[in-house]
Amino acid sequence: DLTAPLRVLICDEMNPGNLDFPGFELEYEGNLPREETLRRLPDFDALITRSRTKVDKELIDAAGPRLKVIGRGGVGVDNIDLDYASLRGLLVLNAPESNNVSAAELAVMHLMAAARGLTRSDAKTRAGNWDRKFLGLELKDRTLGIIGLGRIGSMVADRAQGLKMNVVAYDPYVPDSKFERLGVKRMITLDELLAQVDAVTVHTPLTDETLGMLGQAELAKLRPGSIAVNAARGGIIDEQALVDALRSGHLFAAGIDVFVDEPPTPEHIFLHAPNLGITAHLGANTVEAQERVGAEIVGRVLAALKGDVSRGA
Ligand code: MLT
Repeated sequence: DLTAPLRVLICDEMNPGNLDFPGFELEYEGNLPREETLRRLPDFDALITRSRTKVDKELIDAAGPRLKVIGRGGVGVDNIDLDYASLRGLLVLNAPESNNVSAAELAVMHLMAAARGLTRSDAKTRAGNWDRKFLGLELKDRTLGIIGLGRIGSMVADRAQGLKMNVVAYDPYVPDSKFERLGVKRMITLDELLAQVDAVTVHTPLTDETLGMLGQAELAKLRPGSIAVNAARGGIIDEQALVDALRSGHLFAAGIDVFVDEPPTPEHIFLHAPNLGITAHLGANTVEAQERVGAEIVGRVLAALKGDVSRGA
């Protein structure tokens, strides 16, 4: 029926903005339980998610033939089984730019919080321990190593330069001209970066290549007293290796916004690690980013559905 509206299900928390588009029916369900998503999906032409919903084989199979487009309200598409989606002829779209500033600002926040002991001082002060002996570190003139100089990594570089840090980066996929434009010194190898930084922050997608990229051996190559930040994807800095490096005192402190398994269980090693500041995958969670992400992904998904030739155009 070519006159029937095209239906879009938004099953994760976001600000979808305007839902009123002629010819479309958009349904927003902030936190739809997985069983409900599986049950209702056969009646939709597109699904829009954030990272909470795993778009795996089970979900794609449950969708059936009507589903044509999967929209990811954010940058990373690691929650989507891309091979299986393409096997089933699904178009996968993301919102690559809308939340970049927010992600970069959160990474810088973690860097500063780690340098100044924000979370440990907060916890101690609340526990009645007015500890003014703690000495933090100034970031000015220290060297920040950015792994992944894409959109977000570049914004982190610019902000860190604003803090008067020296910025170096490792990214084999980015041309020299970009390093030059940003005033960032290129590191040819990861080891070269690790050996000369005071703080490291990762801004890569999660892939086979980046999973565990900073493990025990790599963290050991950092100078004693360094800081590590992961506001990208859980596991790019190996979780156990990070905790070991914090416990041994090799790392001064760290900041983490992402876990391998989200949400973490109460036993998760991060929750009991010293000198580690934690946020709950909040990199994209600002008023501004969520407004932009919602508009960007809804716009891209509707455009794709409109252009769908299988509707007999
Ligand atoms: C992203 O990849 O953009 C983030 O994970 C966004 C989100 O929090 O959903």
